[in-house]
Amino acid sequence: MTTPAAVILDASAYAQAVEDAVKASAAYYAGGTSPLDDDAYDRLIRGIAAWEADHPDQVLPDSPTGKVAGGAVEGDVPHTVAMLSLDNVFSPEEFTAWTASLARRVGHDVTRFSVEPKLDGLAVAARYLHGRLTRLITRGDGTAGEDVSHAISTIEGLPEQLAEPVTVEVRGEVLMTTAQFEHANEVRTAHGGQPFANPRNAAAGTLRAKERAYTVPMTFFGYGLLPLADTETALAARLGESAHSDLMAQAAALGVNTTAETAVPGITAHTVEEVLARVQEIAALRPGLPFGIDGIVIKADFAADQQAAGSGSRAPRWAIAYKLPAVEKITRLLEVEWNVGRTGIIAPRAVLEPVEIDGSTITYATLHNPADITRRDLRLGDHVMVHRAGDVIPRIEAPVAHLRTGTEQPIAFPEACPRCGSDIDTSEQRWRCSNGRNCHLVASLSYAAGRDQLDIEGLGHTRVVQLVEAGLVADLADLFTLTRDQLLGLERMSETSTDNLLAAIATAKSRPLSRVLCALGVRGTGRSMSRRIARYFATMDDIRAADAETMQQVEGIGTEKAPSIVAELAELAPLIDKLAAAGVNMTEPGATPPTTADTDADSTTVAAERADGPLAGMTVVVTGGMTGPLEMLSRNQMNELIERAGGRSSSSVSKKTHLVVAGEGAGSKRTKAEALGIRLAAPDEFATLVADYLS
Ligand code: IVH
Repeated sequence: MTTPAAVILDASAYAQAVEDAVKASAAYYAGGTSPLDDDAYDRLIRGIAAWEADHPDQVLPDSPTGKVAGGAVEGDVPHTVAMLSLDNVFSPEEFTAWTASLARRVGHDVTRFSVEPKLDGLAVAARYLHGRLTRLITRGDGTAGEDVSHAISTIEGLPEQLAEPVTVEVRGEVLMTTAQFEHANEVRTAHGGQPFANPRNAAAGTLRAKERAYTVPMTFFGYGLLPLADTETALAARLGESAHSDLMAQAAALGVNTTAETAVPGITAHTVEEVLARVQEIAALRPGLPFGIDGIVIKADFAADQQAAGSGSRAPRWAIAYKLPAVEKITRLLEVEWNVGRTGIIAPRAVLEPVEIDGSTITYATLHNPADITRRDLRLGDHVMVHRAGDVIPRIEAPVAHLRTGTEQPIAFPEACPRCGSDIDTSEQRWRCSNGRNCHLVASLSYAAGRDQLDIEGLGHTRVVQLVEAGLVADLADLFTLTRDQLLGLERMSETSTDNLLAAIATAKSRPLSRVLCALGVRGTGRSMSRRIARYFATMDDIRAADAETMQQVEGIGTEKAPSIVAELAELAPLIDKLAAAGVNMTEPGATPPTTADTDADSTTVAAERADGPLAGMTVVVTGGMTGPLEMLSRNQMNELIERAGGRSSSSVSKKTHLVVAGEGAGSKRTKAEALGIRLAAPDEFATLVADYLS
């Protein structure tokens, strides 16, 4: 990744750039009001630095270059040892060049690096006297910071009492996890405040706020441990000699939170290649982390190497930040679209002024539901912070409230279904057309006929539109009573196509219950959930007889989902009866209905215990292209196979994954599995494992 610098053409543009950068930087550290996103700020600083390199005699005293926090913040509590910033690299080449210059300074190759995530929050120094947390100070200008001790009890991971009565300073980052950020904005807007644009702003604003009517929690991660003036001599000497990785272990032993317990713990690496491999692993794990990181920090691990390398006025020479592409940008919310899905859900979607994030142009972001819009106080024309990481659908973090001009307009919520004009059922968070799945009949029938549901060949979107428009089908069951004459009466319908379609429909009648259930499109029951329900209950009658409590016996169905599934199945009763009457299969091959003992509320692990087969108890993820005996299987068929063999299929790799089947071209999921030490299997190896279940 390389970020192009802003081009500065003359002295007045330079002066303006310096002023903008100092303002943005002050706002950044004060919390909540920076008009620039990180990328725009970085480009501005690089433009300033480039101009200064060409005009060294015209550098303004206010210039942010070469200063901690861009020289924009001050403090009144002196730091014992300067709290420095970090220099950046953006590519493997730049990193390799940095290690070469480090080797020159140190006098030999550095053979042990520590590699840890660069946490996206604010640096603080926590002073402990005899094990008790007495003072918390921000980084400030690096030599002195601001006393923020009032925040002490609100920061998770920063204990008020250490495990030993030692006098030390712990340094690290205060941030908000994604969940803490959402909570903070909810509380803040409920108190009439404006939402914070992103977790970093929220942490900055919250840390410095003194007299608020409410408190919201934050999280601390330590990345430094050093002696204070009063530290016992032997301990001070020991800390001074410890490698960074040892210091982190000592901090953790004292009860301080470090990255050790996260999915991206700090590690040591011995070569440039090992460091770069770890950088890739952390980058791959980034989208799934519950907190923001903006890079990877690489440090010479040994104290002796650090001392030999020394420090500049702004940054140490023994550490570097390997920056990752920004995942957040500010853009404008132009419009909100309301789309009706196949189940009748009316979902809002944000239309954005196109913005490039990490190489993709983003024009849409999810908005979840109307309550979510209200909660975030979003308005048309707002500047919004958009977040996009990995393959996850982009989301709006929050409006950038201080950039409002007063011309922003409220977002209008529909009063009638935007598709069919019927009433809207607003009783749940997600609004729904009162016509339900019949509102968007074409979408719901196309879905039902799809490859992973009833798999009716020849019944594509165009054909469905034709059938609906001709009045031949008004619901899913009508498909199964279509006659040859009716089909022949349609345009562009030959005898052969008609016979093929009728045969495909007849075949669809015998699909397993899991697919029939999935075809019904009950909200919250996609392919894998439908399979779990069908395998658990075995027959449609048993599913329909289940109350909410029984429904919760199925893995993954909790107190919220269970009643809505039960209610929707009741709503679908006439359609299900009609399907059964038309001869559609209502049983799951190989599954047996639960006995009364199974459904006893005490036996919550029944579903898991019932499973046997070579994958019993295992969560399996498939990624990349399948080959050999698995080549013809769709992803859904692979998942069906996993579940037939007793396993549980999942689409994302986590600590809970037991096995990853990685085929040709497998990418980030494979990398993530390797990073987490999860067992990998090639398609052929997996095919052998489940050979008895390949049908
Ligand atoms: S080491 C003297 N380690 O990044 C070494 N800093 O851009 C300086 N940061 O001011 C700090 N994660 O606020 C270090 N694992 C990490 C870090 C980290 C985040 C922040 C810190 C620092 C800034 C420099």
